[in-house]
Amino acid sequence: MSPLGTRPRRSPFAPEVLPDGRRRFSHEAVVARRVLLAGVLAAGVGGGVVLSRLSGDDTGAVTTTDGSAPAGAVAAAPAVGAPAAEQGPSRTAADSPWVVVNKQHPLDPVDYAPTLAVVDGKEVAAVIAPDLRALLQDAGRDGVSLSVTSGYRSYQRQTSVHDNAVARDGLESAESVSARPGYSEHQTGLAVDFGGRTQPGCLLKNCFGQTPESEWLRAHAGRYGFLLRYPEGKTDVTGYDPEPWHWRWVGEDLVRQVTGSGVATLEEFFGISGGPEYA
Ligand code: DAL
Ligand code: ZN
Repeated sequence: MSPLGTRPRRSPFAPEVLPDGRRRFSHEAVVARRVLLAGVLAAGVGGGVVLSRLSGDDTGAVTTTDGSAPAGAVAAAPAVGAPAAEQGPSRTAADSPWVVVNKQHPLDPVDYAPTLAVVDGKEVAAVIAPDLRALLQDAGRDGVSLSVTSGYRSYQRQTSVHDNAVARDGLESAESVSARPGYSEHQTGLAVDFGGRTQPGCLLKNCFGQTPESEWLRAHAGRYGFLLRYPEGKTDVTGYDPEPWHWRWVGEDLVRQVTGSGVATLEEFFGISGGPEYA
């Protein structure tokens, strides 16, 4: 049985657990996904050549690749003002599953550290471990080999990652892909950089977005509570270049609300400031 098979339902919209352990969205969630797809088609999103630098993670390289858009992330987003959840977890508490961390909104305290668990050999916030394990297991059942490349990064680790990126690329270029310490979702433990086996050369590069692993994530990660956090075309909102490998756990209820609203980012959904400038 899937590890999720015995977990309590969290909402009337929670997915049904099938006999093979997979989860299936309710009618309402399916409708929401259709609305999203319609938005994508309406947007007429096309491929484009995008110069992408590596994220502020562990290696360094430059790649140019087709930057086709992730389906779950670039629906034609209405302007800010889409209905945000009136109730729900805090958007500011560092240990909240709905916390919004960006260049305008650092973690409080700035050296916050979550309760941790280890999944696929990497530390992540304990709260995401069940969904992340289920995602990896179910992807494997589909013949898709996903791995956790980077999960939790401490304030000190993020300092090192950011310093290395600045030394390599210069401040402006580095900060389009790497957060300052205290400003990284990785420090919450709620963010995961996924990798895959099919194209090792695309690890933490834009071409990860064209791999079968990325395709699987775009189709299924929402069922496990993960949102693509830095989609194409949203740098002015998120403050970062697109990162098809970086997924943020917010829980399936919020994924459903965000995708159903037609917006692509947490900032737009909640009406929270963001963008490339630090506060
Ligand atoms: N690469 C992301 C933006 C981070 O450094 O947290
Ligand atoms: Zn990341």
